[in-house]
Amino acid sequence: MSKENRYQEYDTWAWLYNQTMGPEYSKSQLQPIETLLLPKIAKNTKVLDVCCGTGHLVQLLSEKGYQMTGLDGSEAMLTYASKNAPQAQFILDDARTFELPPIFDAVFSTSASLNHIMSIDELKQVFERVYAALKENGLFLFDLNHPNQMTKWWTGGIAEGEITSNYAWAIASRYYPQDNTGYFKVILFQAPTNQTNPLKLPKLLLYKLLNLRILTRLRLKVLARFSQWEKNWQSSEITYHVKGYPHAEVESALIAAGFSDIELRTLEGDNTIDENHSVYFICHKAKKCH
Ligand SMILES: C[S@@+](CC[C@H](N)C(=O)[O-])C[C@H]1O[C@@H](n2cnc3c(N)ncnc32)[C@H](O)[C@@H]1O
Repeated sequence: MSKENRYQEYDTWAWLYNQTMGPEYSKSQLQPIETLLLPKIAKNTKVLDVCCGTGHLVQLLSEKGYQMTGLDGSEAMLTYASKNAPQAQFILDDARTFELPPIFDAVFSTSASLNHIMSIDELKQVFERVYAALKENGLFLFDLNHPNQMTKWWTGGIAEGEITSNYAWAIASRYYPQDNTGYFKVILFQAPTNQTNPLKLPKLLLYKLLNLRILTRLRLKVLARFSQWEKNWQSSEITYHVKGYPHAEVESALIAAGFSDIELRTLEGDNTIDENHSVYFICHKAKKCH
C-alpha cells in the first residue's frame, strides 16, 4: 500500500492522544489481555500489537517481559510510541496490508481500533495479515464496538472530554444502525499562544474541579457550550468514520481467514455480551488444510 493510502488520520491529534486516551485506555485494556491472552502464552514470547497507537500498552507488556512489536499507520502516534516503549520495535504500516513472517505467539488489537476498517472485505484482509504473522496455534485477541452498543450510546452527544488551563477537548459520537456506519468527532479548543488575558484563578480552579469524575455530567455540559465560555480560544474538529459489524459477520470473516476456536467475551472476560461494552474476540491460528 502506498503512503497516501496508509491509514494516518491520527497524525493530527497524536499529541493529545498521547497525554489523554493513550495512558488511560492502556490501563483498562490490560485487563482483557491479562485475563484472555497472557495465561495462554509463555512469558517473554513475541507479541504484536496491531494499531498500537502511542504504545502505552506495548510498554506495560514490555515491562512484564514480553518481546513487543507495535504496528500503526500513523507516524506521529509511533513517534510517541517509540518514546513511551523504548525497548519495543515499531512498524509504520497499514493493518490491511502489512506483511510479517510467522514469528508471533500472539497478536492483539485494542480500543476498538478495527472499527476504523470500513468494509468487511478489508476487515478480512486484516485477519489474513494477522494470520500470516502468527506462529501455528498462535492467538489473536481484538475488540470491536458492536452495533447494539453503538446504537445505544452513540447518539450524537458529547461522551467524554477534559478542560485544562490552555486547551479543552471533547468527543461526540453518532451511529446509524440502518447502514452500520458511524463517526466520532474530536473537538479541540486551544487558548491563544500569546494569551494576553490568561485565565483567572477562580476559573482555573473551576476547570480543575470540573475534571473530577463525580462532575462528569456537568463537565460535558460545559464542553457542549465551551466556545461561549472561552470566546477567544480557537476551536477545530476532526471526524473519524467507523463501521459496525454484527458478530456473525466477524466470525465468518475470521473463519475464512483460517482462524478457529472463536470465543466472544466482555472486557471482564465473561461471555454475556451486552450493550454497554465492546466485545472481545479471541481465536487460534488453525493449521490450513491443503
Ligand atoms: C483508538 S486508537 C487505539 C490505539 C491503541 N491501540 C490504544 O489502545 O490506545 C486507533 C489506532 O488505530 C490506528 N489505525 C486505524 N486504522 C489503521 C490501519 N488501517 N492501519 C494501521 N493503523 C490503523 C490509528 O492510527 C490509531 O493509532
